[in-house]
Amino acid sequence: VENIDARGSYVIPGGIDAHTHLDMPFGGTNSIDDFRSGTVAAAHGGTTTLIDFAIQKKGGSLKEALDTWHEKAQGKACIDYGFHMIATDVPPAQLKEMADIVQEGVTSFKLFMAYPGVLLLDDSSIFRAMLRAGEIGALITMHAEHGLPIDVIVERALAEGRTAPIYHALTRPEAAEATGTERAIALAEMAGVPVYMVHLSSTRALERVIEGRDRGLKVYAETCPQYLFLSEDDLRGTPEDPFEGAKYVCTPPLRPKHHHGSLWRGLRNHELQVVATDHCPFCMHPQKELGRDSFAKIPNGMPGIETRLHLMYEGVRNGLISLNRFVEITATAPAKIFGLYPKKGTIAIGGDADLVVWDPNKKFELSLENLHMKVDYAAYPGKVVTGAPKTVMSRGQVLVHDDRWLGKLGGGEFLKRRTFDL
Ligand code: URP
Ligand code: ZN
Ligand code: ZN
Repeated sequence: VENIDARGSYVIPGGIDAHTHLDMPFGGTNSIDDFRSGTVAAAHGGTTTLIDFAIQKKGGSLKEALDTWHEKAQGKACIDYGFHMIATDVPPAQLKEMADIVQEGVTSFKLFMAYPGVLLLDDSSIFRAMLRAGEIGALITMHAEHGLPIDVIVERALAEGRTAPIYHALTRPEAAEATGTERAIALAEMAGVPVYMVHLSSTRALERVIEGRDRGLKVYAETCPQYLFLSEDDLRGTPEDPFEGAKYVCTPPLRPKHHHGSLWRGLRNHELQVVATDHCPFCMHPQKELGRDSFAKIPNGMPGIETRLHLMYEGVRNGLISLNRFVEITATAPAKIFGLYPKKGTIAIGGDADLVVWDPNKKFELSLENLHMKVDYAAYPGKVVTGAPKTVMSRGQVLVHDDRWLGKLGGGEFLKRRTFDL
């Protein structure tokens, strides 16, 4: 038996990142972290479970997508993992197939109101998928930006020669997320099913969630650290090179700073339930470069799988959330919502011993050389946080101690998740 000295530290459940995109194809390239580098980076940051997104090919089966993602993860993942299923096409055969996917332990589906022609599902398809989810106990999660007007705004900006990364933010207005959120909630209300909003970024979208919850609906929402710590200003890049802003192109876009306060308040007041990362990293060279002439071609996504707990603990230090709430939004709530509790997300007899010894006094700079994600830039360069993992364990095995990797490559197991039971 090994003794681990946790004096002066907190012992907390391993973090659960309910929203990642490892090895994800996008616009002819793939997100740069695969299941090996991505899960090693996650563990260094105190995350011991992730839920990644399998993506149905348009016209393809859900099973085919699930098989593809199992192949990506198998033998590579170093922490335990589950999958959500992105459904891009739901004719009757796939509506039926949703039940088989749930049987495989993939109990949540992501649907898109954005990206017309690529990922967008029309409202009747969304509604049918919601009804089906209700029958089989699956949870629908929603990318709720209203994509049809967005594409027109983007087209117009490009025709006017507005091609720099900042226009990514200026062409995806808050109104598009607010109306998408309201519509998703209305559809879920009519279908009589719960709904979970992914990567909520703005005040008005949050207000729609609060209204739904106040009406007694089962509406849940996650936000991400980038919407709490970064802003639209980061998309402007530097005076010498506005394209530096490409580092911060993610969707929904980073918002003006005044949104931060309402999102923190939402987390504090249990109006937002989860903080996940939407980790979807692309290198500046050559991946983000694909969009040097047009912001619309910049691969969408940011790195974040490794820095989520460090950043959220800043919220504890700054009095914005309590220590208990920090654990709840980063581990316990995602475990409960996504059918992993109490195996994951808590410290209890019978649960997996996924534990983090969290040193509240450890200083850590979120610089490129200190991080393990493969991406070639740091999203928070020079930022020094106080509070970091000292020891990280998965099922009782030490993965990381004092920033040294001690884990087994490929030691992560697939998690069959329960159906929605909150
Ligand atoms: O920019 C992002 N978020 N990329 C990943 C795809 C998505 O919509 O989550
Ligand atoms: Zn999305
Ligand atoms: Zn995402």
